[in-house]
Amino acid sequence: MCGIIGGVGKLDYRDYLLTGLKKLDYRGYDSAGLAYRKDGKVILKKVAGRVDDLSRAVAPFSGGEVGIAHTRWATHGVPNQANAHPHFSMRRDFYIVHNGVIENYRSLKNLLKDHGYIFHTDTDTEVIADLLEDNYRQKKDVLASISETMGVLRGSFACAIICKDDSNLYFMKKASPLLIGLGKGANYLASDALPMVDYTDKFIDLEDGEYGVLTPAEAKIYIAGKAIAPVVTSRDTARYDYDLDGYPTFMLKEIEESPDVIHCLGDNYFDGEKYLFDQKLIRALRDADEVVFLACGTSYYASLLGVEFMKRLGKRSEAYIGSEWAYYPTLPSKKTVFVLVSQSGETADLILCQKFLLDKGLPTLAITNTKGSTIERKATYSLLLYAGLEVAVAATKSYMAQVVLLALLANAVGGRTSAVAGLDSLIRSLRDIVLRKEGIHAIAKRIFVSRDAFYVGRGHDFAAALECSLKLKEISYIHAEAYPGGELKHGPIALIEKDTPVIGFVSDPLTALALRNNLTELSSRGATVLIVSSEALREEGDSFSYPDVPSLLAVLPEVMFGQYLSYYAALEKKLPIDKPRNLAKSVTVE
Ligand code: M6R
Repeated sequence: MCGIIGGVGKLDYRDYLLTGLKKLDYRGYDSAGLAYRKDGKVILKKVAGRVDDLSRAVAPFSGGEVGIAHTRWATHGVPNQANAHPHFSMRRDFYIVHNGVIENYRSLKNLLKDHGYIFHTDTDTEVIADLLEDNYRQKKDVLASISETMGVLRGSFACAIICKDDSNLYFMKKASPLLIGLGKGANYLASDALPMVDYTDKFIDLEDGEYGVLTPAEAKIYIAGKAIAPVVTSRDTARYDYDLDGYPTFMLKEIEESPDVIHCLGDNYFDGEKYLFDQKLIRALRDADEVVFLACGTSYYASLLGVEFMKRLGKRSEAYIGSEWAYYPTLPSKKTVFVLVSQSGETADLILCQKFLLDKGLPTLAITNTKGSTIERKATYSLLLYAGLEVAVAATKSYMAQVVLLALLANAVGGRTSAVAGLDSLIRSLRDIVLRKEGIHAIAKRIFVSRDAFYVGRGHDFAAALECSLKLKEISYIHAEAYPGGELKHGPIALIEKDTPVIGFVSDPLTALALRNNLTELSSRGATVLIVSSEALREEGDSFSYPDVPSLLAVLPEVMFGQYLSYYAALEKKLPIDKPRNLAKSVTVE
């Protein structure tokens, strides 16, 4: 994954690089480093810690001509200081930061060893720096060396590069995101727009195979030796709100933004009388004989609801995990519409799926929260979630937006407007939960010491259970499983011990009784059963209830309950809620 940032020209480098890096640490945060060139010398600092540790380690300085920085999510080599970026070539001709994976780095390393190169790190990145140097020593031209180096690299890379001999900022890109920001007297680049929006609203999205050079005055971009005219786009910088607004964590803030996000989504796709979706998209979905959802993690769990919405329209529909489908694609019919669901729009596993579909000339609909992201740009149709920036690693409001958008879309395809009426009650229900969150905190205090926990539901309640168990694992580090109520007695019930927490979701009248019976079987074996029910199905002894919402939308109050539960369990355990161990927000490596 990793976040990279660079700048050239008149800049406060310390502030730009460190503040910018902090905004990128959702991409990884196990080590960090920066390098800048000042008065002809390159100064380097790296730490085996987070960006805050780096800030403490970098003494105040002024001036500078060009700078790069990196926040790492380790792929090759443990997260120690040596493996932290920037990496430099053997003779220190080049300093680079890299996001991606060089698949053939072992063979390149052997080749470089034959050329006398000695390696100091366990990373795949170091070979890039040495290859640049090796080529530069022969060609005496940085851009030609970059082009040559790109020719032998296999895998993915977005790199920002400093050469000791000049004060330019060089870059190259393949299969990892990189964009340029155009300023006045300075130019910028980074893995996403967030660190640059305080400086510019003009951006160039780099495409695979592109490389080039930034000076304070211009951006020159090449592909295979030929200069290309870049496409400059403007972005609404207000969208990149990075403030905690008084909240202790981004996760809490983002959970509580959900009602507003849903409201905003309704406004964006319905004008009070009709849906505002592209009619070509609606026709494509109406004509489709199958709608296939591809997604990962939380977005996959949201897609399970997409499947249900489509099935209710009488459409065949399936959801697949992106990393699986990329290698085992089902052969689609010509009338299949593929829906790629991704908060970031940069998930590598999903980009692989999209490549396969593009090669086959099949239409895709991207549902993302990130305008200009790779998946969004390459899709035939695009729908935005308008959820605002989601900073915490845990997907919360973006899940809510995905499910609601899928509901609205299905309604538009089915020619109905009922989900819009349903949205008001949904928003009210979620606001009610926000007001009563201390009730969920009290439940978290009972279960946070547990090693294992289960979420149980049937039908759409099971889909909510899956997402909630993911939240409990990733934020609270509690081993959690989700099961359909009827399935436990076919094996997993053996894991139930005295006081094992089991959270049961009851919102479907069709299965409420059966599920309650399943839960009774578990409490008879010592489990601490906590039932979360809709008000209509509430029974005495239930642990938490929420105001009713229409049918499948019940997953949203249930998931909000689960988000709070994992949040408060993590709070009780004093865990780093916004940045849980081993994770990154945007998973840009396979
Ligand atoms: O950006 P995406 O929606 O494509 O990300 C997919 C998953 O990595 C993501 O949903 C992940 O599971 C969440 N951060 C979990 O909270």
